[in-house]
Formats: sequence, C-alpha cells, structure tokens
Amino acid sequence: MRIILLLFLFTQKCFAFDLPRSACKTDLTIDKDHYNVTKTYDTGDAEPTDAHYDGKGNLFFVVFGRNFNGYYYDVKLIKPNSTAAQNVPGLPERESYSVAVDKKESRVYFGTSKGIYAYNYETQVATLITKPDINLNSLLVDKDGNKYITGRREGFEQLYLLAGNEKIHFKGFDALDEVAVDDKNNFYYIREEKFFVLRNNLSHAVFIGNVSYEGLGQITFHEENVFVASKSLSYIHENDTGPMKRVKGTPGNVTAIAFDRSGNFVLGTKGKILKYETNDNECFQKQN
Ligand SMILES: *[C@@H]1O[C@H](CO)[C@@H](O)[C@H](O)[C@H]1NC(C)=O
Ligand SMILES: *[C@@H]1O[C@H](CO)[C@@H](O)[C@H](O)[C@H]1NC(C)=O
Ligand SMILES: *[C@@H]1O[C@H](CO)[C@@H](O)[C@H](O)[C@H]1NC(C)=O
Ligand SMILES: *[C@@H]1O[C@H](CO)[C@@H](O)[C@H](O)[C@H]1NC(C)=O
Ligand SMILES: *[C@@H]1O[C@H](CO)[C@@H](O)[C@H](O)[C@H]1NC(C)=O
Ligand SMILES: *[C@@H]1O[C@H](CO)[C@@H](O)[C@H](O)[C@H]1NC(C)=O
Repeated sequence: MRIILLLFLFTQKCFAFDLPRSACKTDLTIDKDHYNVTKTYDTGDAEPTDAHYDGKGNLFFVVFGRNFNGYYYDVKLIKPNSTAAQNVPGLPERESYSVAVDKKESRVYFGTSKGIYAYNYETQVATLITKPDINLNSLLVDKDGNKYITGRREGFEQLYLLAGNEKIHFKGFDALDEVAVDDKNNFYYIREEKFFVLRNNLSHAVFIGNVSYEGLGQITFHEENVFVASKSLSYIHENDTGPMKRVKGTPGNVTAIAFDRSGNFVLGTKGKILKYETNDNECFQKQN
C-alpha cells in the first residue's frame, strides 16, 4: 500500500508539469543543484587524488597505486574533449605527488620527489623549475602565486612557504594530512580526522568538524563552499561554523574533487574519475 501511495505522489508531482517521471531522476544533489554523471574515465587499479582544472579545461590529477614494484604516484592529464587520461611527459615516474594551479599566472605546477616542475603548454612537456633536491609531499599555490609545500620534519608533516629555493617553516601546521588554501588565503586542513580552518584574519585555527581520512583525500573550493572528499563527500559554506553537510549518492569512497569553470565537477574514486554536469532539465527548473 505504502509503495503504491508513494509512487502515486511521485508521479503526481512530476505530471503536474507534464513531464515524464524519469526526467526527475538525478545522480547527485548539492543544495538545490542536480548533477548527472556524463563521462567516466578509467584509472586502472589506481586511486585518483589532487585533481585540478586549469583555465583551459584540462584536468590534471595524481593517481596512487601499487604494483609489483611497490607504490607509485603519477600525474595524469585529461584534455577537454579527450575520452582517456594520458601521462604528462617530462615528470619523474612513480614519484610525482602533487598538482597545483596558479590561477593568477595561468600556470600548472607539479610537486615531485625531484623538485617542482611546470607545464609548458607549447611543448606539452613538464620541465624542472627548482633545485631537484626540494623534498615535498604536496604543493599548493595561493591567490598571489606564492608556493607552499608540505614535507616531513621530525616525523611530522609540516607546511613551508617557498621563497626561491629557500623553505620558510609555517608554525602551527604540524602533522598535516591534507591542506589547501582558498582565494582569500584561508588555510583549510585535515589532521587526525579533524577538519580545521586557519583564517587570514585569525592567529589560531578553528575546528570545523570530523572527517574520515585514510591516506588520500582532497579539499577544494567552489563559489563560497569548501568541499572535503575524504571517503565521503562533505561541504560547508565558508562563513559557517558547522556542522558540515554530507553529499549523498557519491560513488563509493571518494578521494578527489575538482570544479571546472562552468561549475561542473569531477569526483575521483578507486579506478575512475567521474564527470558530473548540472542537470538543468525542465523538471528541476519548474520545481525550483
Ligand atoms: C539523469 O540521469 C538519470 C539516470 O541516472 C536519468 O533518468 C535522467 O534522465 C538524467 N537526466 C538528464 C537531464 O540527463
Ligand atoms: C570540445 O568539444 C566542444 C563541442 O563538441 C567544442 O565546442 C569545443 O571547442 C571542444 N574543445 C576543445 C578544446 O577542443
Ligand atoms: C574573520 O573573517 C571572517 C570571514 O570573512 C569573519 O566572519 C570574521 O568575523 C573575521 N574575524 C575577525 C576576528 O575579524
Ligand atoms: C568529533 O569526534 C569526536 C570524537 O573523536 C567527538 O567527541 C566530537 O563530538 C565530534 N565532533 C563533532 C562536531 O561531530
Ligand atoms: C560571508 O562573509 C563575507 C565576509 O564577511 C561576506 O562578504 C559575505 O557576504 C558572507 N556571505 C554570506 C552568504 O553570508
Ligand atoms: C570504503 O572504504 C572502507 C575501508 O576504509 C571499505 O571497508 C569499504 O568497502 C569502501 N567502500 C567502497 C564502496 O569501496
């Protein structure tokens, strides 16, 4: 009985707008926006993370995997109309850990075990731009083009500002798991499954909420929201103090998220990158 009643209500809701019921289906909803998966890219057995779009619609990301040689981290690229991910020539194999996009200078950088590389759009090859002995695990760039790296010191992951080839230690960022900086220079980070923000106008970090974390994850920003892909996908408005909201319907454990210029995005989960595009069909337009 209950099922029939529900079906009846559901069809009523859509038929009220003279639309077929299927048009109201959606793969994923964030606030009032509906998205459908429009493309799927294979990443083999590897887990994607640290995904970033450049201004031209290229998607760069890191894949983490294991094979008979042990662990590897490689950078991959999906060009705008491409159906598959490709390698970025020039980067050290197995030890390219991180991607960062400098929006101000429209440049893409790669953090590796052998220094920082930059992407050359003409040759489509990455070339070394620092001394090769800069040790890092991840690389980030703030709105002013300053570069930051994380690396281990005294057994803990720490944050450093790069000034040429010099590293300036940032205090208060011990034992980081993931860190990202937004376009207002607020630093967001995960430490021991807790999510914090260090705002540009405050001297101490503020706890936002609990997140699960298992070695791979990504913090990213879109409009005024901060997203955390770390097993589940959650988000919070930048002015909010909590709790974080959980996105339902994600495909398994997510480890990467990146938005493109039009507000569509990708999610990374083991073995694949999924592209989500806004689903602006009539059913939703009329309901909203
Ligand atoms: C979105 O996907 C669902 C199935 O997952 C489908 O029924 C629906 O028609 C799609 N909507 C659009 C606008 O593509
Ligand atoms: C990708 O395809 C779309 C539609 O087919 C086209 O308008 C666009 O110019 C293409 N982009 C690139 C970079 O080739
Ligand atoms: C810091 O900035 C945030 C967001 O812009 C604001 O909500 C907060 O009131 C500011 N705090 C102080 C101490 O100025
Ligand atoms: C976060 O988790 C801790 C336990 O680890 C719990 O005591 C605390 O209430 C949680 N906080 C929130 C905001 O969920
Ligand atoms: C968030 O805070 C900023 C700075 O305080 C303010 O300009 C903006 O309007 C706020 N946004 C919302 C949605 O409250
Ligand atoms: C997500 O990860 C947990 C372990 O961390 C695992 O038990 C679970 O099966 C994973 N879920 C999927 C859908 O892969």
